[in-house]
Amino acid sequence: MQKSPLFITLEGGEGTGKSTLIRSLNDYFVSNGNQVILTREPGGTEGAEAIRDLLVKGSANRWNAMSEICLFYAAREDHITRVIKPALSDGKIVISDRFFDSTRAYQGELGFHENNVINCLEANIVGQCLPNLTLILDIDVNIGLARANSRNDDEGRFEAKKIEFHEKLRQNFLNIAKKEPLRCKVIDASQSKDDVFNEAIKHIASLRGDKNG
Ligand code: TYD
Repeated sequence: MQKSPLFITLEGGEGTGKSTLIRSLNDYFVSNGNQVILTREPGGTEGAEAIRDLLVKGSANRWNAMSEICLFYAAREDHITRVIKPALSDGKIVISDRFFDSTRAYQGELGFHENNVINCLEANIVGQCLPNLTLILDIDVNIGLARANSRNDDEGRFEAKKIEFHEKLRQNFLNIAKKEPLRCKVIDASQSKDDVFNEAIKHIASLRGDKNG
């Protein structure tokens, strides 16, 4: 079992089952004797959780694009500096529910200017703190939204956006995976929980094999 640091991120649109997978991965790694840090974005530190409230609650048009990008990156900087980097330095496994691909997919389709800002923030804030593996959970948008809407929480700012937004989002994640096929693996999230988990483990095992061999 992997004892050296490992940084895994889970990505996907709304209601793709990231939370379920993340819990199964945690159990798997812990039962194999690893130290695991489960975290999420936006969030993961006290400050970033406070910023999360500003981002995920309220009306869909609460922020304009540029403010939103800056808020996500302010939260991410705190998260990387205070949680992710120290944990990786300690040889732990870090699993984050969303990371920088979410900004690319959710905010990055807006235009040339926004994309330039995102690239610049990515280079300066994420830098070399790149995930070893990104699992992208992919599902039909209508199924995902139905699952997300059945959750009884008040974090529906992004879920409330129009269906076209979610279709575009799905494509954005698939395009990210196409551009970075070594880091990003797409998993069909319409499969059973067990099948999704087994596929994730297969990707993790092959990453370990690649590293070791
Ligand atoms: P999350 O709680 O993971 O939502 P869900 O469980 O519905 O997948 O994330 C909160 C919301 O923030 C989600 O709608 C996606 C959005 N988001 C962005 O728009 N940009 C980002 O960089 C991140 C990390 C999240």
